[in-house]
Amino acid sequence: MPYPQYLKDLIKRVEANRARHVALKREDDDLPFLTLEQRQSYLERFHPDYKTGPQIRRPITVGPSKGYSISPEIVDLLEARALVDPDKLDLSNPDYDVDVLIIGGGGAGSAAAIYARNAGASVMIATKLRHGDANTMMAEGGIQACDKAQKDSPYYHFLDVLGGGHFVNKRSLARRLVEDGPDAIRWLEGLGVLFDKFPDGRMKTVHGGGTCRKRMHSASDMSGAEIMRVVRDEVRNLDVPVIEFSPAVELIKNAEGHCAGAVLYNMETQEFTVCRAKAVVMATGGSGRLHIQGFMTTNHYGATGDGLVLCYRAGLPLVFLHTVQYHPTGIAYPEQAEGLLITEKFRGAGANVLNVDGERFVNEREPRDVEASAFIRECTEVGKGVRTPTGKWGVWLDSPMLDLLHGQGYVAKNFCGAYMLLKRFEIDISREPMLVFPTLHYQNGGVDFEADCTTQIPGLFIGGEVGGGIHGENRLMGNSLLDINVFGRIAGANAARFAQDSAVDAPLTLDHVRRYHQELEDAGIVTQRRAPVLLPDYTTPEVKERQLETHYLGNLR
Ligand code: FUM
Repeated sequence: MPYPQYLKDLIKRVEANRARHVALKREDDDLPFLTLEQRQSYLERFHPDYKTGPQIRRPITVGPSKGYSISPEIVDLLEARALVDPDKLDLSNPDYDVDVLIIGGGGAGSAAAIYARNAGASVMIATKLRHGDANTMMAEGGIQACDKAQKDSPYYHFLDVLGGGHFVNKRSLARRLVEDGPDAIRWLEGLGVLFDKFPDGRMKTVHGGGTCRKRMHSASDMSGAEIMRVVRDEVRNLDVPVIEFSPAVELIKNAEGHCAGAVLYNMETQEFTVCRAKAVVMATGGSGRLHIQGFMTTNHYGATGDGLVLCYRAGLPLVFLHTVQYHPTGIAYPEQAEGLLITEKFRGAGANVLNVDGERFVNEREPRDVEASAFIRECTEVGKGVRTPTGKWGVWLDSPMLDLLHGQGYVAKNFCGAYMLLKRFEIDISREPMLVFPTLHYQNGGVDFEADCTTQIPGLFIGGEVGGGIHGENRLMGNSLLDINVFGRIAGANAARFAQDSAVDAPLTLDHVRRYHQELEDAGIVTQRRAPVLLPDYTTPEVKERQLETHYLGNLR
């Protein structure tokens, strides 16, 4: 869908200011950052996390984090019964038997598999969709790491991570993240990741929101796809079996209380299978497809919070799930691309954010939660948003500025993903600005775990977005691609070590599921809900009704 005429007319206001905006950018004449008080006020008044009411937060009624108030969309999953009936599944004759089972075939799971395999363990990956169908693949802007020794250090990176996370991050995790960063970059490059470089071979690095140093490494605006390409290849090189379309639907424990495998669900045959493992790495990613508060999302189709459900039922507490990350720049138009990510790197490279009058209203490098709040404020309280043809709101991201600032062809070359995507809708982002609005991007919180990726359950390790604490209440750009590599590698290596030392050979059990079901009943929760949900349900009520009718008629015939 090209822009309709009324939007083309509004774009003229953006164009009228463009030459002046470019000149100011060249002179580094920037809008000041908001003060800490202003930031807090923006967050409290406009950020979705700060809204109140039962539709926004609900206490969990059962389990290890009972009483913790989080998004009802997640509570619904936690207050649901298992997909598998523990009394009907025979665990005595497993279909698979490995040292380390990795649940999830994204970046963290793949890094874990490589490290576990290289440590000598027999490894298997079970994943819901195809290997690489994951948020890693969708990540665009880059990966932070402080490997430019003279100007940066883990100290500065650590301060940025804490500042972005509102200083409540689990510090041991944040510390490990930044200290292992440079080695993660070397590792990825050694495997073959083609990072953006200057002709002399130095890495190109740029700022992200909330960073005090330019430490964002990238591969155009397809950094995640490039990393996924390489780690997936390496998993294949190491002959690690990958069982696709087979999500884990329950963790299995042994009689000693150790994690000892998982029940997998074959989405094609609709059969359950049993995998026994000496150690398990949970790397299922996030939950953006739950569309919390009705937000559109950047996330891949399978991001339905499965790992949260499985770990919680097995007994692990949840942390920092009271915050959700809304990325400021999701596509607001065209409708077919709604919610998809437009990388923060556009703003890092100098593109302005503008209201309906073509005026700036916020510094483009505020931390994400503040930036998103400023967009919502502009469209609501200030009333200067741009109405989309579908009745939603957006603000302009003036990408054509970048060709003027950095030279013709800059946008097409450095943002080829977004350029090609919008070209399909006859929008040339090197000439026309993009219409953007905050989109659900990241699960800031998750399962509680330690810097060595262990958990309170022996044999269960955590890697990637399913874990909580590293980023506190708000993650900064580029720390997620770093997180999956740093903690994926640690989880894999330590799971392999655990498997090697494991002398336990106790019978497998799903007693924890029985106990959880009992707890639900004791709390008066009688429900038909089942979790994990595995895939989002986009069936409209009208279609659901028709399905019911067809089913009913079918039964009559
Ligand atoms: O804006 C972005 O490219 C997003 C990156 C991230 O979430 O780390």
